[in-house]
Amino acid sequence: MERRRPLDEEFQMPSFRLDNRVALITGGSRGLGLGMALALAHSGADVALVSRGAEELAKAAELIQAAGQRALTIQADVGDIAQIQNLVPQVTAHFGRLDILVNAAGINIRQPFDTFTPEDWDKLISINSKSAFFLCQAAARAMREQGKGKIINVGSIAFDLILPNIALYAVSKNAIRGLTKSLAIELAKDNITVNSISPGRFWTQMADAVFSDPARYESIMSMLPMGRPGIPADLAGATVLFASDAGDYITGQNIFIDGGWSVNAGMKA
Ligand SMILES: NC(=O)c1ccc[n+]([C@@H]2O[C@H](COP(=O)([O-])OP(=O)(O)OC[C@H]3O[C@@H](n4cnc5c(N)ncnc54)[C@H](OP(=O)(O)O)[C@@H]3O)[C@@H](O)[C@H]2O)c1
Repeated sequence: MERRRPLDEEFQMPSFRLDNRVALITGGSRGLGLGMALALAHSGADVALVSRGAEELAKAAELIQAAGQRALTIQADVGDIAQIQNLVPQVTAHFGRLDILVNAAGINIRQPFDTFTPEDWDKLISINSKSAFFLCQAAARAMREQGKGKIINVGSIAFDLILPNIALYAVSKNAIRGLTKSLAIELAKDNITVNSISPGRFWTQMADAVFSDPARYESIMSMLPMGRPGIPADLAGATVLFASDAGDYITGQNIFIDGGWSVNAGMKA
């Protein structure tokens, strides 16, 4: 049993800085993943960005470099298990280590439950859930050897609130919820924390069709106590908390970042 520590150690303030740490972020080329990547870079981490689109990756890398950090871009499809299993080795070969994994890549298919096909299931679950599962596995192996690690999975408001026509997305994101909790207890002994960040309504490319319709925009705003959509920078605080020493005793947790949506009992759905 660990003995009580000396008082000066108990009150030593942990750092939010990420200097000399390396992060791997899927979906880091735009939207919320890019916002999280920039939060890590501004706190001192070097960043490996993964997505399919080369042009967006290059632009995202410039932003990381403008924050004073090194960037590695990896063009890969996280729906393909062979490409997934290649990611951690590429990052450790380039930077020599891996301290932080962020699983942010994701897609949505909005349609009635009745119309989903097995092909839709395979595609969406591969990109949103299977990729996170096997990247966590590969990252945990590298982090275990280093004696510490931080994993952040991007969940969704669908952990709690379900909207029509997103049955498959809801399944994929609730897999992330279970994965985060399971790994939190399995990896605690390795000093690896596993948490999730669940965004509410953010006007990114994924949500463009929904927000571009003025009637739907008004309906969404009526549900949000803060009265505005989220922006990628709104994820920065929780990202840095979960990635840094300041979050060393936080694991298996989820933070909704939703402008108050998930606690708004008076919302008009
Ligand atoms: N926007 C919201 O309101 C909202 C709410 C809750 C949760 N989320 C979650 O937040 C995360 C980011 O979403 P976002 O809103 O930022 O969407 P986004 O702007 O569409 O960004 C999605 C990112 O994932 C990448 N990606 C998609 N499919 C991929 C694949 N097969 N292989 C590799 N990369 C892939 C995209 O790059 P490429 O397309 O170039 O590959 C892009 O970098 C997702 O997990 C999403 O479910 C978003």
